[in-house]
Order: sequence, then C-alpha cells, then structure tokens
Amino acid sequence: MAAERWDGLLVGAQLATLDAIEGYGLVDAGALGWRDGRIVYAGAVEALPAPPDVLAHEVIDAGGDLVTPGLVDCHTHLVFAGSRAAEFEQRLMGASYEAIARAGGGIVSTVRATRAADAQALLAESLPRARALVADGATTLEVKSGYGLDFENERKMLRTARELGETLGIPVRTTFLGAHALPPEFAGDPDGYIDAVCDWLPRLHAEGLVDAVDAFCERIGFTAAQTRRVFEAARALGLPVKLHADQLSDGEGAALVAEFGGLSADHVEHTSEAGVRAMAAAGTVAVLLPGAFHVLRETTLPPIDAFREHGVPMAVATDCNPGTSPLLSLRQAMQLACTHFRLTPAEALLGATVHAARALGLDDRGALRPGLRADFVRWRVREPAALCYWLGGDLAASVHCSGRRVA
Ligand code: NIG
Ligand code: FE
Repeated sequence: MAAERWDGLLVGAQLATLDAIEGYGLVDAGALGWRDGRIVYAGAVEALPAPPDVLAHEVIDAGGDLVTPGLVDCHTHLVFAGSRAAEFEQRLMGASYEAIARAGGGIVSTVRATRAADAQALLAESLPRARALVADGATTLEVKSGYGLDFENERKMLRTARELGETLGIPVRTTFLGAHALPPEFAGDPDGYIDAVCDWLPRLHAEGLVDAVDAFCERIGFTAAQTRRVFEAARALGLPVKLHADQLSDGEGAALVAEFGGLSADHVEHTSEAGVRAMAAAGTVAVLLPGAFHVLRETTLPPIDAFREHGVPMAVATDCNPGTSPLLSLRQAMQLACTHFRLTPAEALLGATVHAARALGLDDRGALRPGLRADFVRWRVREPAALCYWLGGDLAASVHCSGRRVA
C-alpha cells in the first residue's frame, strides 16, 4: 500500500480545473492529488477515496486559496541581451516602431547586443526574466530565437533557452525565428537570407534545438512568399509552424499559416474575416499579445468577436521582448487582455492555460485533470477573476511543476 501512496495532496482549495465546456470548472472545497509528476485526483475533498494522510505522503492545506493549472506562456522572446529603453523614449517623443526599425534600430539593435554577448552572459541576462515569469505562475515557457540571425548566434540563443529550462526546472519549448529581421550582412538580399535560414533549420533541428518554426510576416519583416519558403522547409522536417501575423498591417498572414495547418497565428490585430475563417477551418489558435498592443499604443483591436463566432481558440501570452513588450508577468498579460480586448477573465485564464498549451501543440497540460502533468499554482486570492483584476502584486503563493515546487 505504501508504494501506492500519492506524492502529494492539496486539500481545502478553491480549484479552477478549467476542465469544463466553458468557464472555470470550479470545485469548492477541492482537492488535488499527484504522483510521479502527474495528477491522480482533481475534485471534491468530500469524494476522496480515503482520508488524506492515508492517501498521500505529503498533505497541504490550501486554506481556501485558489488553485489553477500552471500558466503556459506560449510566445516569448525572453532570451536577448541589452535593453531598448532609449527606443521607448524615442517612441514617446513621436517616432514609430516601423520608422525606428527602418532606420536600423529596433530588432537589429538587439541583434547587435545579442551577438556580442557570450553564452554565459546571455544566460545571466535572460534568467531573471524567466524567473519572474515563473514566480507569477508560468510552468511552461516558449522561447524564440531571432536575435542572432546567423547560424552560430541562433544556435547560441536556442541552447540558452534550453539551459534556462534546466536551471529553473520547467519545460521550455524552443521556436526557431530566423526569419525575424534582415541582418545587415544581407542588406538588399532578403531572398538570399531566406535561403540561409532554410539551410540552418535542418542543422539546428538535428541538434534537438527546434520544437517549432516561426517568421515575422510584415512590411518590415518578410513577405508572404518568403514566409512560405520557410514554412516549406519546416514541413519537410515535420516541424509545426506558427506566425507573427497581421500585427501592423493585414499581410494575409493568418490565412497563410492556416494553410500550413499551423499551431497559431500571433498578434492578429489586422486579420480579416477571411483569415479568421481559414484559422477556424485549420484549428489554428489565435495568440493575443496585449503587451505589444499596449506598449505600441495600437488602436486596431484583434477581431475578438469573429474569433468567438467562428470558434477560434484564443490564447494570451506575454510576447516578452525588449522592443514591443517588456512584460514579465503572464498574469499581467491576462489583465491587459481583459482591459484592452475585453476578454472575460475566464477567457483570459483559459487563454493562458488550455489554449496556450494547444498553441504549442501540447495536450498534456493546461487543465487540472487526472493524467495531465501536475503543473499548478496556489494563489493568494479566492476568486479566479482576481487574477485579472490586480495590476502587479505578488499573488502566487507557490508554483509547482510536475509536482515539484519551482517558486
Ligand atoms: O512580437 N514583431 C516582431 N517581433 C516582436 C518584437 C521584437 C522586437 O521588437 O525586438 C514582437 O512584437
Ligand atoms: Fe513576438
């Protein structure tokens, strides 16, 4: 019997299982049990098959606190060196993000700093950002490359991302974003650069560094035709794709990534009704990034009602990056999604868990259900809406990944 005991059991929790057709899937006076990193019980304390201390080695009384699935940040660029605070000041003086990028600043200035940092320095600069996200409830992070823009530096970024996960004890999913911006050595030759990106991809993949492939399809990024070539290279390797789509203009990016059966179209402020329909048909998730919307003082809202109407799942992520979204809390991104995009708090929480996991192609997390990973957060609040209500603050009492406490 002793060997059968669960590793841990939390009792007296307000459980938001998110395992319901809609809403929070609340269980009042709930219990959550886990063994070998997986959930074995998520339900009422009353319905437990035996007394808690008989069932589990460790019993924790949550004292009525809210417990949710661990948050999944499905879109970050958190591995980088340097800062773009000066660019923030320029924008407040009237310069636009596009104008700064065209003048050689923006993404390319972070490329200069990231290339100059060695692997150790890059890890040291990136670790506090990842740690902050975990401290506010994230138990899975996605990290993109895209500030190296040559083979060695893209590899350095992806390795750093993997190392972050090992250091913090959480899964990090890596996305190759070689097609993020045109590096200076390819000035005037974007197609030549795309050839290089397509050449690096199989080599990086062979080293186990790539879980998905992304591109920046935009006037200041790459054309639809260039993006298509990157996607074809991904498809040849069986790698899933996602896209920075329709952020600053409608470049028909959402329809393009849907055509490739993509995991997600991200940003999507300027996505048309046709793009939404294509996403719905392909099962492509809309990843909303309200941090970038907020920081760039954008005014065009993503087509939220159309996503709802067509049943396109909406995820919410930080887009943590030095240019458009220096945001270090996914809970804060949920808050911004509610205030700017009028998501309901339930939609925002589903967006940072269930739908975010789907945007990464992961079906073993995002809800509290037996069989899923024991990734969960105990919060110092009782109502789920309170997670989206507070701006800032220190609400996570403890963060558990695969049953182990990580913050
Ligand atoms: O998601 N849009 C392109 N990529 C990032 C910004 C990167 C940067 O400015 O450094 C984004 O907003
Ligand atoms: Fe991004």
